[in-house]
Amino acid sequence: MFAKRTEFLKASEVRELLKLSDVNDIISFGGGLPAEESFPVEEMREICSEILEENGVKSMQYAISEGHVGLRKIIVKLMAEKGIHANIDDILITSGSQQGLDLTAKVFLDEGDTILCESPTYLSAINAFKPFYPKFTEVDMDEDGLIPADLIRKLENSSNVKFLYTVPDYQNPTGRRMSLERRKSIVEIANRYNIIIIEDNPYSELCFDGRKLPPLKSFDTQGRVVYLSTFSKTVCPGYRIGWACGTQDIINKYVLFKQGTDIHTNFFAQMQIAGYYEKYDIKEHIRSNVEIYKSRRDAMVAAIEKSFPEEVEYTRPEGGMFLWVTLPECLNTKELLLKSLKRGVAFVQGSAFFPNGGHENTLRLNFSGLNEEKIAKGINILGNLLKEELYAERLAGC
Ligand SMILES: Cc1ncc(COP(=O)(O)O)c(C=O)c1O
Repeated sequence: MFAKRTEFLKASEVRELLKLSDVNDIISFGGGLPAEESFPVEEMREICSEILEENGVKSMQYAISEGHVGLRKIIVKLMAEKGIHANIDDILITSGSQQGLDLTAKVFLDEGDTILCESPTYLSAINAFKPFYPKFTEVDMDEDGLIPADLIRKLENSSNVKFLYTVPDYQNPTGRRMSLERRKSIVEIANRYNIIIIEDNPYSELCFDGRKLPPLKSFDTQGRVVYLSTFSKTVCPGYRIGWACGTQDIINKYVLFKQGTDIHTNFFAQMQIAGYYEKYDIKEHIRSNVEIYKSRRDAMVAAIEKSFPEEVEYTRPEGGMFLWVTLPECLNTKELLLKSLKRGVAFVQGSAFFPNGGHENTLRLNFSGLNEEKIAKGINILGNLLKEELYAERLAGC
C-alpha cells in the first residue's frame, strides 16, 4: 500500500543517536546539537511578551508564504554583508534550511537526474533528495574542500546533471572549509557546464580563526546559485527558521511548493527572530557562541592528540560543529559503534554520509553539544577502545 519511495526511508542514525543523548550516562558525539548555554531564553521571553501585547492577533493569523517582511529585510542585510546583493523578493523563509533542501528536490529533480555532491556529504540532504530517485555522483574533497579537477571529470562523465550540492563552510560531516580559489573556480565551472549550485551554508558564522570567506553565491553573476541558510546555529534550532535566497523565478517555484507543504513558516517564531535581531546585538551573541564552540573544539582536538592511536587521521576544523575521523582500513566503525555504546560513548559511523556507501573506516564526532569535561572523558574512552581494536587487528595480521 505504500509508495515506492518509502523504501528509501530508514530511521536516521543521527536521530536514533539523538534519542540516546537523553540517556543520562551516554556521552553522545552523535547528534549535531548547538550548545544549550547559547540559547537566548530570557531575551525571547521579553520579546514574546512584547509581540503578544502589541501584535498578538497578527502573530496568530495565517501569513504570506514568502515570510515575514521585516525578517526578510534583515536577511537582505545579512546577505549584503556577505557580498550577496539580493532583494526581499529573492528571499523565502523556510522551516529550517532542511525545508530548503526538500523544496530544492521538488523544484529541480526528475527521476534519474544526477546530483553532484561532496564525498562525504550531509546525511539529511541525501535523505531529502533520495525520494526523487536521483543518481548521486560523489566528488572528491581534500582539506580545501571540493576538488575542481574531479568536479570537471565527473561532469564530463555524467548525464542529466541538475545541480551540485555543496556545504562550503565547516562542512557537515568533515568540518572542512572550501578555499577562496576553489569557491571562484567552482562557480566558473558551473557557468561553463550550465548547472545549478545549491550552496547549503548553515555554519559560516561559526568561524574560529576570524577568516570568514565569501559564499559561492557572492561570485554568482548568472543567477545559478541558490543559497540556503538558517538561524538554527546562530540563535536556536527549535524555532525552525531558515531561508532560501535565489533569483525571483527560482524562489517563486520554491514558494509554490512551500504552499503545498506547510503554507508558511511559523509566523510567531519568525516575529521573534526578527525582534531579536532588532533589539539585541547579534554579532556579540555570535561572538560568545563562537567562544564556546572554539573551546570545545580545542578540548576535543587535545583529547584526541592525547588518546587516539597514531595511525588515526582527523580534521582540525576552523569552525562549525564537527570533526571527521579516518581509521586504518581494517577497522569497521559500525562494529566499533556497538562496542563504544556499551562503554557509554556514541558517534555517527561515517558510511552514512556517502550516498553510494563504503568508507566503513570513518566516523563523525560532534563537539558543540557537550562541555569540555565530557568531551575529554568520552574521547579518552573512545581512544582506549581504538587502541584495543587496533592491537587485536594487528595480532590478526591487519
Ligand atoms: C549542512 C546542513 N544543512 C542543513 C541543516 C538543517 O538545518 P536547519 O536546522 O536549519 O533545518 C543542517 C543541520 O544540521 C546541516 O548541517
